[in-house]
Amino acid sequence: MNNSWWRNAVIYQVYPRSFLDTNGDGDGDLPGVIERLPYLKSLGIDAVWLSPFYPTPNKDGGYDVSDPRGVDPRFGTLTDVQKLIESAHELGLRIIFDVVPNHFSSDHPWFKSALSSPPGSPERARFHFFDGRGASGDEPPNNWNSLFGGPAWTRIAESDGSFGQWYLHLFDASQPDLNWANPEVSLDFEKTLRFWLDRGVDGFRIDVAHGLAKDQILVDHRDPKSLSQALRLDFVGMTQESRAGLLRDVPFFDREGVHDIYRAWRKLFDSYDGDRMSVAEAWVYPSSRAARYVRPDELHQIFNFDFLMIDWNSDVIREAIERTLSEVAAVGAPATWVLCNHDSPRIVTRLKDANRARALALLTHSLPGSIYIYQGEELGLEDGSISDEARQDPMFFRTHGIDKGRDGCRVPLPWDAAMPNFGFSSQDPWLPQPAQWAKQSVNSQEVDPESFLSFYRKSLALRKSHPALNHETPIIWHHAPKGVLHFEREWGLVVVVNTTDYKVEIEVSATSNILHISRSGVHLANGHLKLPANSTVWLES
Ligand code: BGC
Repeated sequence: MNNSWWRNAVIYQVYPRSFLDTNGDGDGDLPGVIERLPYLKSLGIDAVWLSPFYPTPNKDGGYDVSDPRGVDPRFGTLTDVQKLIESAHELGLRIIFDVVPNHFSSDHPWFKSALSSPPGSPERARFHFFDGRGASGDEPPNNWNSLFGGPAWTRIAESDGSFGQWYLHLFDASQPDLNWANPEVSLDFEKTLRFWLDRGVDGFRIDVAHGLAKDQILVDHRDPKSLSQALRLDFVGMTQESRAGLLRDVPFFDREGVHDIYRAWRKLFDSYDGDRMSVAEAWVYPSSRAARYVRPDELHQIFNFDFLMIDWNSDVIREAIERTLSEVAAVGAPATWVLCNHDSPRIVTRLKDANRARALALLTHSLPGSIYIYQGEELGLEDGSISDEARQDPMFFRTHGIDKGRDGCRVPLPWDAAMPNFGFSSQDPWLPQPAQWAKQSVNSQEVDPESFLSFYRKSLALRKSHPALNHETPIIWHHAPKGVLHFEREWGLVVVVNTTDYKVEIEVSATSNILHISRSGVHLANGHLKLPANSTVWLES
């Protein structure tokens, strides 16, 4: 069995802009992350993944990078990055950075020189520039839509002021897609990966990992509108099959060429000591295609987004667990589990119920593989409600407000109820914090044994100390009544989940004890277990 640290790890996502502001500009920063590393350590996590902190015009929350080997002054300096890596390592925490290889910011020097260079020049060949369709070239080269809404192509003015070529951007117009068929692009990324690996980073989260190869660049998409609909994470109620139908045969996703890129990256990672890792953000359908990214000579992990969208339904949850475990096992990779991230509604908001959120979290913390926790998830935060005037997400602007975008899950963290802006910043935060977050601040929850925070700390501590949880041991399913999941992790941990809105009673081993519960009201006597509505229990037998 491969015992690499990342196989069964708990990895905490920091969205630096919303974590802690130490210089009073309303945006979080790297010294803020360094300051709160002891808090992160106290949660019982193994690693911290940081969303981008690179220089950026910030048109897409920093996922529009204008220098992948630099640090945006809003966040700090390279010295801060070095200190962050070292301080984390001193505490026994690993550090993972985000790389954004699908696109650069339009502020990157490469794109600026592409604009001032003629069609057909080597400067333009780093991106996807094409002449338009139609007699005067005023129609985009194909019918692809941006995932943020509107067309995926923007027309430029040539240096003489005439109408010019079009360039591809799967996201905002400020995020031109890179041409990975050009060796200059892969060389530059190799430089970036080495730059951070040399500084001691333990791994990378790879943004839009399924999007790099564009061998069908001029092929129309058969159904461009439905694609953006299928990718909307708040589009709940959509089954896996209907989503898969909409997402099948997308000409710019999941092309064979991406795997050559990751085979080369894997060789690079393996040439470093210290068990460096990578995790792909790749939305691929059907889910069996995900395993192709984590074959032994490719990446280490791929996010499994099933739980990010899952219905609170025991059959659907069981199917997702079984399918995920068997798909990744076929290639020897560990599973991953994600309840929240910076692109999707927070779990309490999505399930519309804190009890359900806690029950799903306790179930998730009992599964083999790696768990990703998004900052504030451990506080049970809901999405902030943001007025249209305060919104910043390009998705909101490009869809003319039809899609509200992702600002709600990015509201800065509440640390201390008694301080201005709940201790996040001495100035107004870049997004407003809900008043009721006073009760949910870290300091209010630390002193409450029933709080979300105490609940997360306990399950993560048990995950580390319990022999059934600190390895990737298999799951054995037991028969359970409708709406209930009942399974066992090898070496004595039994998990029972009640997804119904009423109390259920089931028989378990007569020698069982309760280890952890997601809510009060659980009773166990002589193997007779009573579970309240929407709850999970861990038992030791
Ligand atoms: C990131 C998003 C970002 C997009 C474009 C992703 O999937 O997680 O936040 O907007 O890539 O870079």
